[in-house]
Amino acid sequence: MTVYIKEQTKIIRGGLARSKFQETSEPIFLTSGFVYNKAEDAEAMFNEEIEGYQYTRYSNPTITTFEKRLAIIDGAEECFATATGMAAVYGAMMCQLKSGDHVVSARSLFGSCRQILKKIITNYGIEVTFIDGKNNAEWKNAIRKSTKVFFYETPSNPCLEIIDIKEVSKIAKQNNITTVVDNIFASPSLQKPSKLGADVVVYSGTKHIDGQGRVMGGAILSSKKFKEEKLKFFLRNTGSSISPFNAWVLLKGLETINLRVNAQSDNAFLIAQFLENHQQIEKVFYPYLKSFEQYDLAKLQQTKGGTVISFKIKGGKTEAYNLMNKLKIFEISNNLGDTKSLTIHPSTTTHRILEPKEKLEQNISDNLIRLSIGLEDPEDLIKDLDSSIQ
Ligand SMILES: Cc1ncc(COP(=O)(O)O)c(C=O)c1O
Repeated sequence: MTVYIKEQTKIIRGGLARSKFQETSEPIFLTSGFVYNKAEDAEAMFNEEIEGYQYTRYSNPTITTFEKRLAIIDGAEECFATATGMAAVYGAMMCQLKSGDHVVSARSLFGSCRQILKKIITNYGIEVTFIDGKNNAEWKNAIRKSTKVFFYETPSNPCLEIIDIKEVSKIAKQNNITTVVDNIFASPSLQKPSKLGADVVVYSGTKHIDGQGRVMGGAILSSKKFKEEKLKFFLRNTGSSISPFNAWVLLKGLETINLRVNAQSDNAFLIAQFLENHQQIEKVFYPYLKSFEQYDLAKLQQTKGGTVISFKIKGGKTEAYNLMNKLKIFEISNNLGDTKSLTIHPSTTTHRILEPKEKLEQNISDNLIRLSIGLEDPEDLIKDLDSSIQ
């Protein structure tokens, strides 16, 4: 009889591989290699005829524990951990694309995601069409015979555009296209694209999974078939593996992710409401505000509004910088999902690389500020913002 029924129990207990010392906390197997008793055993291990580990670039018991737990919370069959979120985004694309293939991508993306699609994979004979991902018809209209992948972030970085995962996955499936969803902003606690029809889901472990600003990491979630046929070969041979130490930090992070992300989202909702009612604020982007353009869709596919708020202060770059420089609790940093509240100016940092036209399409103006809401008391955070907005 299984006693691990609910998700929260499974992410505390699932995937645990205790050593013979019966430690309470998960062990860290900080080793690059593994030894074999006989040459025949090494051969059998490399042929995957016996269970075990060959080399940490391929896998490692601590990494496996992290992968199993993330797969439980995401709702996918399998997981492959990577060194960073960008390694996950790149690996999820390149493991399945070849010269002559075509990709359709939403245009509202994190700067590095946009660069991969615009300037990196296009060097290998792959064509990319950017569309307004909010419009389901644009996905359909952009399809060519050679289209292999749909890619998008939902919510997107930084203005939290929402894409209809169920509908866009349906269009993809009807046309034999693989959907890759960057679920980094919502995190697996608030949104489960695998359960809504997405084929592949990517995460930056650096964000909510760690949630305490310590290590880099990433992950690709998929079916067993996709992992076996596409991911394993590409990732094992190109070397984007996570370190066992980082995997251990992330697997401990998973134990508290639901508690943290839900509490941080509750804080964010209060702060978004405060900002919306402030006279000096021109516009607030937060999926669970009724004024948000895609409020209904956000309510349908996310269980909360998330930990990130973006907003436009009246004025320009000077007013935005003045506000950010006055903050006493919020710190200026480009990470997000941390227990500490952070703020960044996207136009000059995370999205600086975009052309003016691309910034305009994504609402990234000089008066836009992004907040990542932490676990501090929301009253203190609101006071900090209130006394910093002129
Ligand atoms: C939407 C999105 N995707 C991917 C990444 C990349 O993650 P990492 O920094 O772990 O490589 C980020 C990082 O900010 C992000 O915001």
